Amino acid sequence: MGDRKAALPKQAQLFYGADYNPDQWVTDSAILDKDIELMREAGVTSASVGIFAWASLEPREGQYDFTWLDRVMDRFAEAGLYIFLATPSGRMPMWMQHKYPGIIRVRADGTVDPELERHNHCMTSPPFRKHVAAINRALADRYKDHPALALWHLGNELNGDCHCEQCRLAFHEWLKQRYQSLDQLNAAWWTAFWGYTFSDWSQIPTYSESNDGLRLDWRRFANDQHVSFLVNEMEPLKELTPSIPCTTNFMGTHPDTNYIQWAKYLDVVSNDLYPLPDDRTNTWKQSIKADFIHSLMRGMSGGAPWMQMECSPSSVNWADINKLKRPGVHRQEVLQMLANGADTIHYFQWRKGRGGYEKFHGAVVDHEGSTKPRVFQECATIGKEIQQLASLLGNDCPQAKVALLFDWEARWALDASCGPKKRFPGYPYMNDTYTDACYAQYQALTSAGQAVDVLGLDDAFDSYQVVVLPALYSVDARLAERLQAYVTNGGILVGTYLTAYVDSSNCCHLGGFPGAGLRATFGIWNEEVDYLHDEERVAVSFVGNEPQAEGASDIVERIHAEDASVLATFSSDFHSGAPAMTLRTEADGGAAYYLAARFSDACLLQFYSDLLERHQLKDASLPDLPEGVVLRQRRSSEGMRYFLFNYKNQPQMIDLGSLELCDIFSATRLLGKYELKPYASHVCSS
Ligand code: GAL
Repeated sequence: MGDRKAALPKQAQLFYGADYNPDQWVTDSAILDKDIELMREAGVTSASVGIFAWASLEPREGQYDFTWLDRVMDRFAEAGLYIFLATPSGRMPMWMQHKYPGIIRVRADGTVDPELERHNHCMTSPPFRKHVAAINRALADRYKDHPALALWHLGNELNGDCHCEQCRLAFHEWLKQRYQSLDQLNAAWWTAFWGYTFSDWSQIPTYSESNDGLRLDWRRFANDQHVSFLVNEMEPLKELTPSIPCTTNFMGTHPDTNYIQWAKYLDVVSNDLYPLPDDRTNTWKQSIKADFIHSLMRGMSGGAPWMQMECSPSSVNWADINKLKRPGVHRQEVLQMLANGADTIHYFQWRKGRGGYEKFHGAVVDHEGSTKPRVFQECATIGKEIQQLASLLGNDCPQAKVALLFDWEARWALDASCGPKKRFPGYPYMNDTYTDACYAQYQALTSAGQAVDVLGLDDAFDSYQVVVLPALYSVDARLAERLQAYVTNGGILVGTYLTAYVDSSNCCHLGGFPGAGLRATFGIWNEEVDYLHDEERVAVSFVGNEPQAEGASDIVERIHAEDASVLATFSSDFHSGAPAMTLRTEADGGAAYYLAARFSDACLLQFYSDLLERHQLKDASLPDLPEGVVLRQRRSSEGMRYFLFNYKNQPQMIDLGSLELCDIFSATRLLGKYELKPYASHVCSS
């Protein structure tokens, strides 16, 4: 795992609250008084304030007005509540936008972002960075000793890129640092192809559809711009309020943002997630994807608790279908976050505004305004339960046996390449080819009863029994050596299709895939890759078993088992008889498995169940559970807590075997054969 993040100094309870926009209600003090009363009723401890409030904090350039914020901070302190104070960079005031040309973001096609839009700033713009640093300094100076201030919430969901002239020049400087000479850049970007050779730095554009090296470096550059933007935001805060931690709200597996790098600069990891459960189909799979994202947050926190900074207490307003969550679903989402190490649950949003784009977005407090609405009641009940779970505070999840390596750079490299790739549907989980492979491995391992820690490539993975590399398309020699050493020392490695095609410049490895030496590690040579139409399937037969007709879809590699045994073969089409799953073992128990296709859920589950059996990694004290039922563990100061979830919209019968559990809210005992209700969630002691 990465470096372990420290606990929040002012956190004495699990934080429970929401994004709160008192700046929309400054003329209505009755509402603001009512908010404090309702927050108490709902068990709220904290709120994120001022996220888009720059226009009211600095109505004219250099003239600050903190009157409304002073009152809010004071009211919170009097009520014993905390504030996560936002820096307002998510939206610049109108005067700034109109005074400073070049401050608004430019798109790759040269058009400018809309004026009335948030997050529309150029992240390089010197005046923008200067104004951000100035308002942050003013906020820190004013509230540095305020008892309500618990956390800095930097901007909001930073993402995207800007193609203006100042960004282009900054990109050139960034490239000079990286490559030192144009010759080295030309070599890395393989610019002899189509005669793209650059003879001067100034010729380099910010966007190219057809240069895969440039596209990859542009994403790295844009990501670094966000990091340096955050560092600029933090400078005055660190100087004036060194004991107040800083975070910025992540967006799960967002494609633009290498959060693994960002997390290194932040004091605490926080995330926004809006699962869109669809109770007609496959809801349990969506829940496992959410679980994956929580594990990614836990990994970036080095295993330490992290913060759920936004989720909706009911429906969202921006999806195609804004369905209400069915009874039990929202509670389950919250408990799943806690099961995965969250110490904070915050909603978007506390109160529905009367106007604007989000007036119909779910909120704890409805336009009706009282405690009567169903959603308020549900949130208040969850608030009470969260208080009962105080013993989780500061405690983590036991280290899993399995680590899955997640890498934004491999994903970017794949995305920047013309072929081999394919997109899969599934917003909001950003199911590109890369994340699809990650979710599939995570789901199969979860279904096989394993918790999985999600790590970055720089994290140490030696202490894990199994390391999984889904579609790790770019691999350099250093990583390949670490992976080989892991196997030599007895580790169990699982690689999948698309492993090690390219190096860190997005240039293909020579000498056969998987490259960088992994051909020997896995004992296979991947000669060709076949892409199938959506409806096509290739049958797969595990050795000694009947073929599974639905075995593989989308991507099938034609591999040779050069120094590996074959566990399963393809058994239809032109692929019939070719190896589909292989295993190379080493003398001291090390093992390297290769999965040469995008396998069906059933095939992957069988593969991982066999692997766990073969290496005796199953924990005999834990029960085998049916599809969609998941057991998670997290430590508490009162002993281990077991979180049992039925992610399906139907009752499920389980057999707990030797495990005896007691639901800590209802005192119900769960043992032996037990029927879980649809969307049931239990938090238990043993
Ligand atoms: C988030 C954003 C919030 C709010 C929310 C609505 O992405 O940070 O400000 O817009 O979506 O779901």
